[in-house]
Amino acid sequence: MDEGRYRRHGMRSADRHDVTRRRFLRLAAAGAAAAPVVGALGMPRAAATARAGPDPSAVVLTAKPTTIDLGGRTARTWAYGDTVPGPQLRVAVGETLRVRLINKLPDPTTVHFHGIRLPNRVDGVPDLPLPAVAPGEEFLYEFENHYPGTYFFHPHVGLQLDRGLYGVLIVDDPNEAGAYDQEWVVVLDDWTDGVGPTPDALLAALGPAPGSSHGEHTSTAVDDVDRSRVGRTNSALLGGHGGDVGYPLMLANGRPPNDPETFAAAPGQRIRLRLVNAAAETAFRVALGGHEMTVTHTDGYPVEPVTGDAVLLSMGERVDAVVTAGDGVFPLVAVAEGKRGRARALLRTGTGTAPRVSARPDELDGRVLTVEDFAAAPAAVLAERPPDIVHRLVLRGTHRPYRWTINNRTFAEAEELITETGQRVRLAFVNASPMFHPMHVHGHTFAVLRDGQPGVRKDTVLVRPNDTVRVDLDADNAGYWALHCHNAYHQEAGMMTVLYYSGA
Ligand code: C2O
Ligand code: CU
Repeated sequence: MDEGRYRRHGMRSADRHDVTRRRFLRLAAAGAAAAPVVGALGMPRAAATARAGPDPSAVVLTAKPTTIDLGGRTARTWAYGDTVPGPQLRVAVGETLRVRLINKLPDPTTVHFHGIRLPNRVDGVPDLPLPAVAPGEEFLYEFENHYPGTYFFHPHVGLQLDRGLYGVLIVDDPNEAGAYDQEWVVVLDDWTDGVGPTPDALLAALGPAPGSSHGEHTSTAVDDVDRSRVGRTNSALLGGHGGDVGYPLMLANGRPPNDPETFAAAPGQRIRLRLVNAAAETAFRVALGGHEMTVTHTDGYPVEPVTGDAVLLSMGERVDAVVTAGDGVFPLVAVAEGKRGRARALLRTGTGTAPRVSARPDELDGRVLTVEDFAAAPAAVLAERPPDIVHRLVLRGTHRPYRWTINNRTFAEAEELITETGQRVRLAFVNASPMFHPMHVHGHTFAVLRDGQPGVRKDTVLVRPNDTVRVDLDADNAGYWALHCHNAYHQEAGMMTVLYYSGA
């Protein structure tokens, strides 16, 4: 779009740089330099090294501009290689994952392994603690994996996540095999790049950035156009509307509804669905026509199995569910919750014609499972313990300027939430805004409190408007950990802070 918009965004990342520099200066002055923090990381052990030469055992992710096909439409975008989603990464518990990122984008980038508990220096958040990977450069991410489950990866720079830069990461537990016959990984996304405005243009259209004296009139006009395109509706599940951004397409495994992936199985087979919401601004309600689903994991961690008709995933959340395949052709439909659009794929176990694109499984309106329906499986329970420290995070936002805050500060203005190694930390997410926020913490898996007790384990939790969600975690992985809303537009407009503690 126009130069002003880019300049504005550029200014904001420069601000961030200053803040991070200030942080380090302050820490250095307090005698807590960055080096001991990295050296004192708990397990998984910090084996990460950025090596000079190529490592033949590493998986290569080349972030680059490319062209993809979306059901007959051609879209220019940025992706890992030439496919969306990017390559699926898979390791077994105890194994080390080595990922060599090659940056062929015109902008700096990183890879963040969402939900994975890893050493801080390979967490892939710019300047927390390492800088982003410059255009033309590369970086080796290397870490041991100790927690099985369904994860994904994406950049942590600007709105790059809202292009084609994402992929699924699965950590296999060898002891889990046999509980199902087949596995179907379905990654959901809201799509605009190359078929609608770029994500950066969409953000600019949402309203002037904080501190900008730019274009109130244009922003009003664009806002109106945009609202109608979103097709916003009220969602009881989200406690409000579905979002600010309208998308021309919703994708399942990189495919639009008119060109769905078909997954083949045999009737009676038990299929493990691994559902990932990689969207930037859209929550999905997901159902498989003609089937119930039994949820077994959320955000990688086991839950007491619970059976329902559909499941809700906000951005950054993952759900594993088992279905027993019927005989025929069935639509897996992910409706954009509280806004227009849907993604779909097909399960085929027998003969029959595919259901029409517009077919809406009744299950979508049946029992929809949400975080309140899940309880941690015994292996995932976080032992109860009184918190040593409570951080209250009040979530707010404005549209003019387009600014989302935690405790009335944007990320550029944020102070770290300080804690100490060994502490039990309670985070109280207090949503004082009329929109839902999927709140995500890096480097840890928290327990969502229910009736004051630690419940289901997650790394991303939906916080509805005017609601408060409390989570507990143990500070046992020292570093600078990003904590933010997983709505990429909210995050980019400020809704992020840092949880910090040094090694013991
Ligand atoms: Cu999915 Cu801060 O990340
Ligand atoms: Cu948000």
